[in-house]
Amino acid sequence: MEQYIIKGGNPLVGEVEIGGAKNAALGILAAAIMTDDTVRIDNLPDVQDINVLLEAIGEIGVRVDRISRTSVLINGSGIGSISVDYEYIKKIRASYYLLGALLGKYKKAEVPLPGGCNIGSRPIDLHLKGFKALGAKTRISNGAIIAEADHLRGNHIYLDTVSVGATINIMMAASMAEGRTIIENSAKEPHVVDVANFLNSMGANIKGAGTDVIRIRGVEKLHATEYSIIPDQIEAGTYMFAAAATRGDVIVKNVIPKHLEATTAKLVEIGCQVEEFDDAVRVVATGRLNNTNVKTLPYPGYPTDMQPQIGVALALAEGTSIVTESIFENRFKYVDELIRMGADVKVEGNTAVIYGTEKLTGARVSAPDLRAGAALVIAGLAAEGITIVDDIVYIQRGYEYFEEKLRSLGAEIERVSSEKEIKKFKLRVG
Ligand code: EPZ
Repeated sequence: MEQYIIKGGNPLVGEVEIGGAKNAALGILAAAIMTDDTVRIDNLPDVQDINVLLEAIGEIGVRVDRISRTSVLINGSGIGSISVDYEYIKKIRASYYLLGALLGKYKKAEVPLPGGCNIGSRPIDLHLKGFKALGAKTRISNGAIIAEADHLRGNHIYLDTVSVGATINIMMAASMAEGRTIIENSAKEPHVVDVANFLNSMGANIKGAGTDVIRIRGVEKLHATEYSIIPDQIEAGTYMFAAAATRGDVIVKNVIPKHLEATTAKLVEIGCQVEEFDDAVRVVATGRLNNTNVKTLPYPGYPTDMQPQIGVALALAEGTSIVTESIFENRFKYVDELIRMGADVKVEGNTAVIYGTEKLTGARVSAPDLRAGAALVIAGLAAEGITIVDDIVYIQRGYEYFEEKLRSLGAEIERVSSEKEIKKFKLRVG
């Protein structure tokens, strides 16, 4: 199994380019199959989740032509099956976006029920509630959800919980339903807006994305488009916290500063200087960070996908901080690993009380999930000594060229897969 090996202590300094937003790209790739025309998508992140979803749509008959590592042509005219293979949903939950896309286009879809994952149970009851409201019948058989409808008709749908996935999935199905759909209490994340803008560029009629009421007028057909995906705010925020934790000076390029407001506000609160440019932010941290309190909330609140990253930074801050995770029930699994590096944290339910310590020391840790894995790399970059992070396959699902980008900022980090390579790294860094 591949691992990252890190020698901590170097402040990160320099510039890093951010790739396309993974969580926008997953919805957009699913929506792209809803037309029989060819769609061009640019600024795709080169990450595992995207490559797996491209395989999944290829498997049902979609023509996928990779123009480059970040651009692809998609043509959904040859779809021969509306049933997605379990293999894919096992690898990425977001294959469930094919439910909304196939149901919208063919009024029928069969997608294996996604399991939970390491951060919580992650039900999809709201997705199914939306499909049923549009007139679909849904049933679970042999581990797959089957959704079908003679006609899809617009409806007024209220989401009990703010859900990114349910908002995107229902928006796709409703964009080809007859009549008007209103989604109340919809998610407002930038990636929800990006999927709505993409669908509108294909001829859909969606208004209000980015607010908590989305109004959709269904259309008969969708057509060709060319679309470039927004930058990944979570990848950007991860490098911003890496700069903070290592007392560095990093310019994070190709971002939309507005999407980073909650992250920027917290970095300033803990003592960083943050300078905003049109499409870049600069994070400078000189001394020890200050403590603060943070609660994760749906956008524009502080993102749950940035919770482990601030948790690591606060483990090194002066004073005590409280982190409350209000979105997922199991998103503190990185804390046990952090404690092995010398952090002093107490988790009670969905709250972590973090007593800042002067330093962390390198250790062998394991990535419990995507964002926690990235946060443990940040901990290794800030720690004294050598850290080895196992199970980095999680990290590669959502971060393109992670070690290369960190190395370009002065980090001593390598991807290794044998004791021999570990020894070689240790000899080299001394
Ligand atoms: C998306 O997951 C993201 N994944 C997650 O990012 C992100 O953490 C999450 O949104 C919140 O921002 C993708 O976009 C592929 P939700 P999603 O539906 O859509 C509950 C990453 O690191 N809920 O907004 O699954 C749910 O249990 C990943 O990139 C229901 O109860 O999240 C959770 O408590 C991790 N019923 C809350 O809503 C439902 O039908 C928010 O979940 C759906 C969700």
